[in-house]
Parts: sequence; C-alpha cells; structure tokens
Amino acid sequence: MMFIDACYHKPTPRPPIWIMRQAGRYLPEYREIRAGQTFLEMCYNPELVKEVTLQPIRRFGMDAAIIFSDILVPLVPMGLDLSFQAGEGPKISNPIQTMDDVKALKDPDMDRDLDFLAEALKITREGLDPEKALIGFAGAPFTLACYAVQGKGGGNFDAVRRWMYREPKAFDALLGRFADMTIEHLKLQARSGAQALQLFDSWGGLLSSYDYFRRVFPHVQKVLNGISDLGVPRILFIRNASHFRKFLKTANAEVIGLDWTMSFEETRKMLGDDYAVQGNMDPMFLFAEPDAIRRRTLAMLEVNHDHPGYIVNLGHGINKETPIENVKVFVDTVLGYKRGQFQT
Ligand code: CP3
Repeated sequence: MMFIDACYHKPTPRPPIWIMRQAGRYLPEYREIRAGQTFLEMCYNPELVKEVTLQPIRRFGMDAAIIFSDILVPLVPMGLDLSFQAGEGPKISNPIQTMDDVKALKDPDMDRDLDFLAEALKITREGLDPEKALIGFAGAPFTLACYAVQGKGGGNFDAVRRWMYREPKAFDALLGRFADMTIEHLKLQARSGAQALQLFDSWGGLLSSYDYFRRVFPHVQKVLNGISDLGVPRILFIRNASHFRKFLKTANAEVIGLDWTMSFEETRKMLGDDYAVQGNMDPMFLFAEPDAIRRRTLAMLEVNHDHPGYIVNLGHGINKETPIENVKVFVDTVLGYKRGQFQT
C-alpha cells in the first residue's frame, strides 16, 4: 500500500496524498447528510461515518481515508458534557477546573463506550479499496486539555495556559489521564481496522519550547510509546511547532506532520533522513488559480523527489469554503506525477 510504504520510508512510484479534514463541509454531499442531524449524531452512526469517510475518496481518489469522528468524542465517556453549537464549534458545559475535577473523570471502557467507532472502522475498512489505507486518529493530551479546561475554543487558550502555571500538578494529572485514555482509544482503532494512527496536537505550538518540552512532550511520548507495538505507523502532527522541531526527533513516531511554517529541507536536516514527513501546503493555497495550484504542487513534488517517505497533505485542515474543483487539481497533480518528471 503506497501510503503505508511511504510512512515506513520505503520508495514509492509517486508520493501518496491525503488531506486533513478531507471529509467535511466543503463537500456538498457531506452537507446534504449533515443537514438532517447534529455532528455528534453523525459520529455515533457507523453507516453515516462510513459514507462520509468514503465521500472524498470517491470524488478525488486520495491514497488514504481518515475515519470520520472528532478528537473530542472520547471525552464524553470520561464524563465531559460535549456539544457542537452551530457555527461556534465545540462546547463543554462542565469544564475541568480543579484537581478534584481531574480525579472525578472516568476511565472509559473503549469497547463498550466507543463501540460505534469500532463498528464504523470495521465497515469502512470493508468498503474501502484494498490499495488505500484507513487512518485512525486522536487528539494529543495538550490539545484535548485546551477544550476540556476552557470549555470552548478561542483566545489562544489563555484560560488553559493560565491554569497550567497556576495549577501545574492538576495540569500534569489531566494530561496523564488523557495520555492513558488516548493509548486505549488508539488501540481500539488499530484493532478495528485503522492502518495508521495520527496524533493531532493542533494547539501545541501555543506554548514555548521550554514549557512544551517539560510539561507536554513527556505525555506525547507516552502515547506514542504506548502504541509502538501495534504494527501501524504513527504520525505526529503538532501545528506551529517550528520553534521546537529539534525535539521531534525523539518523539518515537514514523511520520512527522509539518505545517506550512516549516520547510522540508530544514526539517530533514533536523530529523535526519529516517523520518517520513507529511504536509505542508497552507490550506489557503487551495484558493489560488487552478494553474498556480498545479505548478506549485509540482514544484513541491520536485523538491521532495529524491526523498522516500514523503506524504503530500496540507499543513492543517482544509477550509470549509474551499472550491472543490481546486481540490481536484491538487489531488490529480499528485496522482498523475511520475517521480523526477518536472512537467511545467
Ligand atoms: O479529517 C477528517 O476528515 C476526519 C474528521 C475530523 C474532524 N475533526 C471532523 C470535524 C478530524 C481529524 C478532526 C480533528 C479535530 N477536531 C481537531 C484536530 C485537527 C485540527 O483541525 O486542528 C480539533 C482541534 C477538533 C475540534 C473541533 N471539532 C473543532 C475546533 C470543531 C469546530 C470547528 C469546525 O471546523 O467546525 C470541530 C467540529 C468538526 N470536526 C467538524 C468536522 C467535519 C465540523 C462539524 C460540522 O459538520 O458542523
């Protein structure tokens, strides 16, 4: 499978491609299904999850599908009251504020509490082209804490950073609980059909490298080490991590996801050539003229053409206003590329 080979740094005829948040609101066929129910109702319905997971693959033919769910879904069986308000994003009505709140969190029984996710992975894997990989995912402990403590997005998560300094022990305990839970969440996904696992630390870059390394990174390493014997590649994506890319080498992942602020060249210098890298176009790049998209994508492929272990992606999730014909140009350019043939 081309995607899995690239994760393990093996040569492939061309780099594989998928797109973060590829299932979602920029697709009319997604919006049609979504219109009848809430986002969480969709996540809990395996048949609908299968359908929306496969929609972008059917339309564009990417090399991997990512299971449709959300990083916040496993917080519900821990006891957090999660909802998604129209146009406002996630809300947690009983956010974590004290060490007692951390202690009161439950340890989910994954097979029982996330049975819908296991079933969705199983039927999606059955419905997916055998040459394409199915990706499972989870939120990294700090990014989960951002929502669990602040109760909603916004404001550079000031409330969370304040709490981290004021209640360092409770902060550490919370990240520890999330790390343990996330190991089980990812194990469930691997045994249900996920063939690669991505850990999203979307807000990690808000911290200084000192605080990230001291207070957060040990929990990330714990998660990655806890899933090292599942036989599936691990992808670590920390957004805005250019100021601490020197730690990434010790992360114990097979693939490092880059956002658009990190260059491939510098990152490889830092990581050595054993790591696979994934990324890294600015999602807003897909608003350019189609011909500009094609040329710039080819230039990116050329830059990477001597390096196995390169996976094409955006540097963060696709924007919901993205013109779908531009997504097609981006994906087609990669699918039609032959290593070493500069076509512009
Ligand atoms: O990539 C995929 O196609 C798989 C599905 C996926 C979703 N969320 C679906 C979703 C994945 C991998 C995520 C991850 C996620 N969720 C992250 C990490 C990645 C990132 O984008 O930074 C974070 C921080 C969340 C939390 C979250 N979920 C937010 C902040 C929001 C609201 C913002 C938004 O985009 O609307 C969500 C809701 C959400 N998760 C939607 C989707 C398709 C939109 C829900 C809808 O249809 O209204």
